[in-house]
Amino acid sequence: MAADEERGFRICVMQGKGGSGKTEFAKNLAAAFAEEGEDVDVADCDPQANSSRRLAAEVDEGEPSISEAIKASATGAAWDAYRPCGWPEPYASRIRVLPAHFDLENRLVEAGLPGAHLRLRKALTGCDTGIISLLDCAPSLAHLTQMALASADVILIPVEPEKDGVKGALRVIDFVQKNAADLGNPDLRIAGVVPSRVRAELGAHAEQLARMPELFGEYLWADVAIPERTAIKEAADEAIPLRASKKKAAHEVADVFTVMARRLLTLRAELAA
Ligand SMILES: Nc1ncnc2c1ncn2[C@@H]1O[C@H](COP(=O)(O)OP(=O)(O)OP(=O)(O)O)[C@@H](O)[C@H]1O
Ligand SMILES: [Mg+2]
Repeated sequence: MAADEERGFRICVMQGKGGSGKTEFAKNLAAAFAEEGEDVDVADCDPQANSSRRLAAEVDEGEPSISEAIKASATGAAWDAYRPCGWPEPYASRIRVLPAHFDLENRLVEAGLPGAHLRLRKALTGCDTGIISLLDCAPSLAHLTQMALASADVILIPVEPEKDGVKGALRVIDFVQKNAADLGNPDLRIAGVVPSRVRAELGAHAEQLARMPELFGEYLWADVAIPERTAIKEAADEAIPLRASKKKAAHEVADVFTVMARRLLTLRAELAA
């Protein structure tokens, strides 16, 4: 990425397999960064608009969103579309959301236009300078995700410990290694592969977890695995942060996201050095 481009530290949360916990990672990492005192944006790059809803920043069709920002194909076009996170917690004032609506699907027809993969990067330029941006992607490697990959510094991959989850993560790594340069982002790197929705009591999960060190090598963040917990699903449905849950399990998992956020801040410092 051009050294003079004004931007934040952009973390693309992606995985080819759907339902792996990408949006939960984006939502809960945003909360963790904000609790740590960091200003943080969540760019909803998924027409499902799940992170927009879970961060209480939904928009109606026609309201400014990431879709209009991309369509504009102009530097800084995202600026007017950001919304505050709607959670009442004091730290949530440090979270902004670039919301999506299902009409983000309409941007797919632009995929073949010259430079279309750079439109999100252009739109974000100057909007997130000096802060953290989390890019919550759809379960796809197609145009919307490619725009996010063209914009990001690092990639975080939630992986469910099951065959399809592992396959999806390996596909992402291969895709990034083969295509980052063609997306105009040769320095894009994998920050980590993080086990997600882990049910340690399941033999099949234990089996896949045991294979991960060999499959993912240095990318694997085995020590920050996110367990499957009803409290996480409930907090997602209620569009509240884990810390607002009455359940102890939610707070334990929030602590794990804090560890993850701190590790990403260390990585940001290392890459900036
Ligand atoms: N660790 C977890 N424990 C329990 N439920 C979870 C956990 N992580 C995610 N979920 C739930 O599983 C579903 C899928 O999670 P999420 O939406 O975060 O995945 P995703 O990868 O973003 O999905 P998509 O591919 O559709 O974008 C949601 O209902 C969410 O609440
Ligand atoms: Mg999602």
